[in-house]
Amino acid sequence: MSRFSPTETTVVFLLGGPGSGKGTQSTNLVRDYGFTHLSAGDLLRAEQVREGSQYGTLIKSYITEGKIVPMEITVALLSNAMAETLEENSKKGTAQKQGNGAGKARFLIDGFPRKLDQAVFFEETVCPSEFTLFLDCPEEVMEKRLLKRGETSGRDDDNAESIRKRFRTFVETSMPVVDAFEGQGKVIKVEATGSVEEVYERIQASFEARGVRPASF
Ligand code: ADP
Ligand code: C5P
Ligand code: MG
Repeated sequence: MSRFSPTETTVVFLLGGPGSGKGTQSTNLVRDYGFTHLSAGDLLRAEQVREGSQYGTLIKSYITEGKIVPMEITVALLSNAMAETLEENSKKGTAQKQGNGAGKARFLIDGFPRKLDQAVFFEETVCPSEFTLFLDCPEEVMEKRLLKRGETSGRDDDNAESIRKRFRTFVETSMPVVDAFEGQGKVIKVEATGSVEEVYERIQASFEARGVRPASF
């Protein structure tokens, strides 16, 4: 039994190579589709610097090496963040007497699952996913974007050497996850080259084709 029921909680995974635009497009998707955005990388970076965390040093070295942090850590961070959101939603729902909407949420989980074991473990113990949005982007384009982001991001891994390692991890370890979901007919693949607006238009069109509707407010 999973911690959250897929009838009450919608989970959409957002995958794509480093620099494909996951974080950027998440902003658009949150605005128009009512998603709660959870980035596995952001949660890991927050845990890395959290006072009292026993995982700080470990996370830092995995991130710099572009390796996948052991799944127990990442899944626990995601599962707890989901629980917090649902708790807040349910409080709001009670306060506003919105009985039917109480406790429901649509999660966009960015940068996860990056390894097959994470995918299986998360879907079994936390919540099965509805589908995966996959941003498909050539390495030359992603590399350019990341080196530019590195000028201001302050991230330990936005440098040429870490970027090379992250690309390798993506091809060897994360693409098999996309392929597995593809085999289940659960991938929406979008070409992620061109401007931010062009990519988002493609995402909207493919969501519409699959019957994924914007949130109505
Ligand atoms: P990811 O979360 O997949 O690693 P980001 O959304 O952080 O990628 O994007 C990486 C960098 O590229 C950021 O600096 C972002 O502003 C920039 N970026 C994102 N999408 C585009 C795009 N379509 N065209 C040009 N730059 C982009
Ligand atoms: O998605 P993002 O680029 O922010 O991820 C940064 C790094 O965080 C990854 O290169 C990896 O080291 C780590 N990570 C992970 N497992 C995930 C997501 C991110 O180990 N599911
Ligand atoms: Mg990101």
